[in-house]
Amino acid sequence: MDVRAKVFAEYQSVEELRELLDKFRGERLLHIGSGSNLLFTGDFNGVVLHSAMRRARCTNEDAEYVWIEADNGLVLDELIDQLCDMGISGLENLSYIPGEVGASAVQNVGAYGVEAKDVIDSVRALKISDGTERIFTNAECKYGYRDSIFKNDLRGLYVITHVTYKLNKHFEPKLDYGNLRSEVDEHPTPMAVREAVIQIRKQKLPEVSELGSAGSFFKNPIVPHEVYNNIAARYDRVPHFEQDGGIKIPAAWLIEQCGWKGKSLGGARCYEKQPLVLVNAGNATPDDIINLAAAICADVKEQFNITINPEVNYI
Ligand code: EPU
Repeated sequence: MDVRAKVFAEYQSVEELRELLDKFRGERLLHIGSGSNLLFTGDFNGVVLHSAMRRARCTNEDAEYVWIEADNGLVLDELIDQLCDMGISGLENLSYIPGEVGASAVQNVGAYGVEAKDVIDSVRALKISDGTERIFTNAECKYGYRDSIFKNDLRGLYVITHVTYKLNKHFEPKLDYGNLRSEVDEHPTPMAVREAVIQIRKQKLPEVSELGSAGSFFKNPIVPHEVYNNIAARYDRVPHFEQDGGIKIPAAWLIEQCGWKGKSLGGARCYEKQPLVLVNAGNATPDDIINLAAAICADVKEQFNITINPEVNYI
């Protein structure tokens, strides 16, 4: 999106972050990672903060686990590449997800059967109002599907500065999602799983550098059994996954049934290889994306009586 912020400020240390928070107190603040899950609906009349802290370190180790603390501004995929290179496992299924460590712990990013919360031990965060530091255990982060306390009760109140991952030294590959198992050897290394995940993602998802998108635009809905049964009575082979609390139906399938796959509205397009992704086909305005998302939501609601909710954060 061609939008502007009043100020963009980057910091190199937690001390510098504190100084920036003091300097801009009273302004509208938005801390971003690489912005890969944001939709700016217009110019941002405030201060956009971004971390230039990009290191990781081992903070503890025992016979089974290694604890890695990463700075918020480190690109998640760079961290995963380094870990896989050292044979340290746990994050390899999250390979090639765009974004940085701090934001990935807010959003609880997930792919191929793994979510960030599965390996996050704790996060360190700075309270925006007074600059004090607090460590949140995994449980205190109240993680859910693409969800955490930082998107709910504590929204806008803390900046996550560091994330500590507890990673297994003994590799137990997680290969049950989709066709991942068939893409690797019987005893793959973490790097082999990483490479397979990257290949699969490249086949389905647009390269952000070539075609702007925010990844999956909507979350997959989890519906009561009776809603699923009604749909299954009307359609052949409805893809579905049993979950705690109901049945997950892929939003991609619902959107495709509504005929949106590959269709455009203004400069925005429902991606032809994965309809859960909305892309900027060249010169989309924020309104083009907003209107396309709203039209898709309305059709899914009308055809299936299911409300699909955006995964993307509207700013
Ligand atoms: N499907 C269709 N038509 C399509 C594509 C998919 O009907 O054109 C149906 C199929 O039944 C398929 C199912 O959707 O089996 C699931 O598709 P896919 O494996 O691509 O996963 P997804 O549920 O659409 C989720 C995440 C992705 C993540 C993949 C793989 C959400 C919102 N999205 O997508 O995450 O990469 O699983 O784990 O949960 C993201 O969050 O930005 C993201 C890309």
